[in-house]
Amino acid sequence: MKRGNEVLALQAIPPALDVERLREDFPILKLKVEGKPLVYLDNAATTQKPRAVIEAIRRYYTTSNANVHRGVHALSDRATRGYEEARARAARFLNARADREIVFVRGATEAINLVAQSFARPLLRRGDEVLITVMEHHSNIVPWQMVCAHTGATLKAVPVTGAGELDLAAYREHLSPSTRLVAVTHVSNALGTVNPVREMVGMAHEKNIPVLVDGAQAAPHMKVDVRDLGCDFYAFSGHKVYGPTGIGVLYGKREHLEAMPPYQGGGDMILRVTFEKTTYNEIPYKFEAGTPNIAGAIGLSAALGYLEGIGRDAVAAHEQELLDYATEMVGNVPGVRLVGTAREKAGILSFVLEGVHPHDLGTVMDHEGVAIRSGHHCAMPLMDALGLPATARASFGMYNTRAEVDALVEGIWKAREVLL
Ligand SMILES: Cc1ncc(COP(=O)(O)O)c(C=O)c1O
Repeated sequence: MKRGNEVLALQAIPPALDVERLREDFPILKLKVEGKPLVYLDNAATTQKPRAVIEAIRRYYTTSNANVHRGVHALSDRATRGYEEARARAARFLNARADREIVFVRGATEAINLVAQSFARPLLRRGDEVLITVMEHHSNIVPWQMVCAHTGATLKAVPVTGAGELDLAAYREHLSPSTRLVAVTHVSNALGTVNPVREMVGMAHEKNIPVLVDGAQAAPHMKVDVRDLGCDFYAFSGHKVYGPTGIGVLYGKREHLEAMPPYQGGGDMILRVTFEKTTYNEIPYKFEAGTPNIAGAIGLSAALGYLEGIGRDAVAAHEQELLDYATEMVGNVPGVRLVGTAREKAGILSFVLEGVHPHDLGTVMDHEGVAIRSGHHCAMPLMDALGLPATARASFGMYNTRAEVDALVEGIWKAREVLL
């Protein structure tokens, strides 16, 4: 019996990443900045690209470039197959029920705007409420403000605790008979907090309130299963999961997508057009007006394949280990205050150094070859709630190492020397 349990426990531990080997897959990591090896810790802003992605895009343009869904010739067929295979890969990545539940968009921002304009706008009336949280990225605030301004609905935000966790009791209270939609981030880009999205979806669904999850910061760090989460919409960006810029994914439950009007008009989203009337195409094409980012979708598919090949559990375990190490090491530097100490976090460490503006800290770090982000992280309302103008943020990807965390810590010591 004990033996059996031991075997099970062993199986549950994901294999360790061979980080040095996988770093070889990312040509940019060989760069030097200010004569020093690049230490790239700005992965929450965008990730670097493995050769598999760069090569997939190059291969597409050199062997398959054509427009999709239109031509009968061989190249168009090849491009269409590549594009649709990318959709199928994205569906598997999220465990969607069907490929047609995947809409290609420019990124998480466009995905959220699409839902705001196409799903929420026709639904909302004066007095209705859209519920978000204080820790949202501007991309999950402004589209709702815009739609509220058009419809007379009100935007409400659930507060966060001092540790940077969502106040679940307050969330429950905010789910009122007027709430028509919840939009919440899976992982906070400014704090790293992982929100209990599954539980939140359950609570909203008890009241028949649909939920959009902003997965921009979750998709790179953890397995995402939209069926398990139960959410109605899920958005993420290709460039944050080691894929190209300008491509992203909106997952939507089939019944919602089918009921929603198109977001933009143009080619490919129609079945038949006359001057009197246009019949729209079926989902997901109804939402993909115009020539899509074919190369981007193919690059994204390569990125998702790469991430899955490395193993999402192994990546998550490696990043968690790095985050724990960084939390301890950075937290031990005198004058450092960690911002966001939630019990569950993924890949992101925000902090302030007393007496030093985060921008100055970032600049000193840059001279040391260490790329971190400083600022409000497109989360100004959160910064206001925390009473901070800005934080410094180190964010980790699969290719980061403990030695790079050490370089981060040395950089903070250097900033203390230079600036205090
Ligand atoms: C939580 C979160 N949501 C949305 C976005 C917007 O992503 P994009 O700019 O790729 O559309 C970001 C980008 O930083 C983010 O961190």
